[in-house]
Amino acid sequence: MTSPSGERSLVLIKPDAVRRGLVGEIIGRFERKGLAVDAMVLRSMDAALADQHYTEHVDKAFYPPLKEFMTSGPLVAMVVSGDQVIEVIRAMIGSTDGRKAAAGTIRGDFSLSNRENLVHASDSPDSAKREIQLWFPELA
Ligand code: CMP
Repeated sequence: MTSPSGERSLVLIKPDAVRRGLVGEIIGRFERKGLAVDAMVLRSMDAALADQHYTEHVDKAFYPPLKEFMTSGPLVAMVVSGDQVIEVIRAMIGSTDGRKAAAGTIRGDFSLSNRENLVHASDSPDSAKREIQLWFPELA
């Protein structure tokens, strides 16, 4: 299903951002850009959901500590929509490694880690569809 405001992305504001009190800062950036929040919930990711969400990473060496981090506390799951939202949000969050992400991006401004990097956003329309189905089945 498409949104009235265009393309949709699944965004996770990760446990490090919640612990550090950066939820408002991050959502504010999306809102000021003109993107719309279609759905939002504060919840935790359990081990099974982590394995499903990160299905393409489960065999990678970085996955066990990533899973431990992502299940370590509450996160904010959102569906965000807008014109070319997938590309727009990925530009706003910056490169995976916060140490290398450009200044002015969320990771570039607030993260010094390639694991605890504050935000996840869908990387393609197919990923967005799969991830929205996983986190917000009522919207899919
Ligand atoms: P995310 O956009 O959620 O997608 C996969 C996540 O794995 C990524 O953000 C990081 O949190 C994490 N990640 C990716 N590469 C590495 C790495 N080399 N070392 C540690 N964590 C990583």
